[in-house]
Amino acid sequence: MIKLGVNVDHVATIRQARMTYEPDPVTAAGLADLGGADVITIHLREDRRHVQDRDLELMCETVFTKLNLEMATSQDIVDIALKIKPGQITLVPEKRQEITTEGGLSVTSQKKILTNLTERFKDHGIYVSLFIDPDERQIVASRDVGAQSIELHTGSYANAKSDQQSSELLEKLNEAVTIARNVGLRVNAGHGLTYKNTGPIVEQLDIEELHIGHSIVSRAIFVGIEAAVREMKDLIYKHYMIKQSP
Ligand code: PXP
Repeated sequence: MIKLGVNVDHVATIRQARMTYEPDPVTAAGLADLGGADVITIHLREDRRHVQDRDLELMCETVFTKLNLEMATSQDIVDIALKIKPGQITLVPEKRQEITTEGGLSVTSQKKILTNLTERFKDHGIYVSLFIDPDERQIVASRDVGAQSIELHTGSYANAKSDQQSSELLEKLNEAVTIARNVGLRVNAGHGLTYKNTGPIVEQLDIEELHIGHSIVSRAIFVGIEAAVREMKDLIYKHYMIKQSP
């Protein structure tokens, strides 16, 4: 079964809009857990625009499923990660002005630093994943720098303007999954996925985890986060069973 990682940054974004204490992403993580989340994801950004250090520290103590920390390669965040030791780190590119993570990491252009970081994280028992575009060179470079897993950026697929474009981009993701598996990487996927566009991903890609944030948190405003997570879990299950059927 494909696992569901729930990104609760978006809850912290609402809290930071008022610089107050609510809604608390730590509570959201607990409720997402009750709804069946297999992984809880947060991104500690250098500018701390949403998730705060306190959120990460508390989640490290209270999340009993896997905690996946998204982060850039800056030294102060690396130091925090090595102290906190989340179950998994997903390295992502980070730009100050972006609304959300825009593109995948360029692994090819920073092999030395990524090799060094991956080695340090793995020495501390942290599982390392790299968020990349579905591009063969980036996939092979991810293996070369020692990552155990990649997360394929599904943003282009999510933003497809037509059914045809959508199936072409899905095919591109599918080819990327095959390349990654052939070089020994585990594969996750995420970004821009919703209750409408996740089904084909589940049916066609041979992946381990889906990482979904905005759509689940948006639905949570109306139905609560536990229910929103459960609905996404049910959707994944339904499409996974379709995939298994002869
Ligand atoms: N994966 C990564 C690496 C991300 O940066 C994000 C956005 O926070 C997600 C997945 C989830 O994307 P979305 O919020 O669009 O579901």
